[in-house]
Amino acid sequence: MQEVFVEYKTFIVFLHVISAVVWVGGMIAMRYAAHQSFIEIESPAKRLERIAHALKRLFTIVLPFVILLLLTAVMMIKGYGLSQSEFSVLSHAKEGIWSVMFINLIVMMKRRNRAEKMLSDGDFAGAKGQLELIGKYMVPINIILGITAIFIGAYFSSTL
Ligand code: HEM
Repeated sequence: MQEVFVEYKTFIVFLHVISAVVWVGGMIAMRYAAHQSFIEIESPAKRLERIAHALKRLFTIVLPFVILLLLTAVMMIKGYGLSQSEFSVLSHAKEGIWSVMFINLIVMMKRRNRAEKMLSDGDFAGAKGQLELIGKYMVPINIILGITAIFIGAYFSSTL
């Protein structure tokens, strides 16, 4: 594994960084650009429908990058021997952050699917309840966690 990592290090780190860019950048664009625009839509049904649709597209785009982020992280853990190094605590911290972000993402996907079903049944209040939590807390939490992981990554790349 170590030889493969040395051979393809630039490409592996590139895939890791681009995955973080798509995941964290996608959430920031959705929450602070698209969402601000959606809330201007007057019809509640149309507004919720647009938000549910945009979230579906966001989640579909980010999911492969979330997996790629983990795969490249595992390659770096092995390649740099992080678990046996002085960086093991920070490496475990990043693993923990990824896990919480992933669980949060899966719960958001489930809530969004539920909201879509409620919208098609005409239950707008129920759909609003499902989507509100995503925008108010779940996406911002993942943005903060993602930025923390990027900061630790910047520390790694300047010290490893
Ligand atoms: C799953 C556990 C993770 C591990 C073990 C890990 C490990 C690393 C390592 C070793 C580096 C330094 C690469 C180098 O310069 O050679 C790095 C960089 C980076 N990581 Fe992670 N990472 C993990 C998760 C994450 C997550 C969840 C994100 C963001 C969502 C992230 C974003 C970044 C970014 C943006 C860099 C580049 C920083 C820079 O070059 O200044 N990582 N990571």
